[in-house]
Amino acid sequence: MKNANKKYNIVTFGCQMNKADSERMAGVLEKMGFEAESDPNLADLVLYNTCTIRDNAEQKVYSYLGRQAKRKHKQPDLTLVVAGCVAQQEGEQLLRRVPELDLVMGPQHANRLEDLLQQVFDGSQVVATEPIHIIEDITKPRRDSSVTAWVNIIYGCNERCSYCVVPNVRGVEQSRTPEAIKAEMTELGRQGYKEITLLGQNIDAYGRDLPGSTPEGRHKHTLTDLLYYVHDIPGIDRLRFSTSHPRYFTERLIKACKELPNVCEHFHIPFQSGDNEILKAMKRGYTHEKYRRIIETIREYMPDASITADAIAGFPGETEEQFEHTLQLIEDMGFDLVNTAAYSPRPATPAALWDNQLSESIKSDRLQRLNRLVTVTAEARSRRYLGREVEVLVEAQNIKDPTQVLGRTRSNRLTFFPGKIEELIGKTVKVKITEIRAFSITGELQK
Ligand code: SAH
Ligand code: SF4
Ligand code: F3S
Repeated sequence: MKNANKKYNIVTFGCQMNKADSERMAGVLEKMGFEAESDPNLADLVLYNTCTIRDNAEQKVYSYLGRQAKRKHKQPDLTLVVAGCVAQQEGEQLLRRVPELDLVMGPQHANRLEDLLQQVFDGSQVVATEPIHIIEDITKPRRDSSVTAWVNIIYGCNERCSYCVVPNVRGVEQSRTPEAIKAEMTELGRQGYKEITLLGQNIDAYGRDLPGSTPEGRHKHTLTDLLYYVHDIPGIDRLRFSTSHPRYFTERLIKACKELPNVCEHFHIPFQSGDNEILKAMKRGYTHEKYRRIIETIREYMPDASITADAIAGFPGETEEQFEHTLQLIEDMGFDLVNTAAYSPRPATPAALWDNQLSESIKSDRLQRLNRLVTVTAEARSRRYLGREVEVLVEAQNIKDPTQVLGRTRSNRLTFFPGKIEELIGKTVKVKITEIRAFSITGELQK
């Protein structure tokens, strides 16, 4: 084969979309004859799939890149690729900053990697950041897990949250057809995968760019319709989806989750702030009252459902009182997990230009207070598992304690228990919980 004996290494930053893109790009490289190499310093091709959601994510990329750029001076046939969201944001400027780069490619171009590399091997330095219609994936991703898999259902985001770079770097919404999604899922079921997470930055927007509407005037293809269409794929025991947007979240979706046995009782619904003025400035399109109603409705249908979210501390202009509204929401809702971050001004986003930015010390103080509360509430939620028998889908060995395996409950709690991975991988087993921590639980296998 053409690239035989050549080795590649992919370093992935950022969210599940990037992880899914990396798996597809790894699939392309392997189809081209490259072999995976875990040490970037031994690879012939190094690809950074980058994230720019906050400044520290972006800066991390530059420090990694610097090291490889140096190596290229000694090893000129090294191929250096920057993909993902920093690539899209910086484009040509990245080449000026790091002239050693061979290829700069935005997320919409992930499926075109072979084409683009061909141009590189023909002697060009390539920048691929123009918006394109994402072509259906024809190569098989090289997936990290053999048990759980991601399936993109909608790319991009049409929201304009005032702090967020995602619409700039991921482009406009592009939904895949229900048929293409089902075909990919069916193939995963055939290959022995047990769990699939459907992915979208705003997954509730699924289908609004596809043609067709119902007699009641709603879009023909909604996320709810899709769940009814793909919930019973042979072999796929568990179905998840992420990320939900409170603005578009419907009761119909909650009903579908309750009704369809394979759809897990876990919802990831970021609220970002518990204060209505801040939510308005963020352009989120809902109030904290609406958010609370969504969670209450979920709990009416599925009292044990787990709810996770994202929140931002120190948005421009946030007062102490407004921040306390966020703390209050967390106390009242009882989240299983909240991903938190201090606000970070991002290029080409409205909020970054406002003159009411908070100091780093206020932001980091609020972030710490937020994290303390999140740990306490997560631990309180973990406590409900103590003494209970839960269903765990076993995914891997526990690297820190090889006598244990790890998996997740349907509610997505990370669970450890003693066992042999060779016997248990991919199996759904009953585990009695004997020990809890804020973000994980431990138990014993039940026969
Ligand atoms: N599409 C998802 C979130 C995608 S980004 C949604 O709408 O909720 C993931 C998380 O990063 C966001 O939920 C937000 O909490 C955080 N985030 C995004 N931009 C940020 C910024 N400029 N500063 C700090 N956190 C940010
Ligand atoms: Fe960003 Fe808002 Fe889109 Fe989420 S919904 S990706 S926060 S713009
Ligand atoms: Fe980061 Fe891009 Fe995801 S900015 S969070 S990798 S969409």
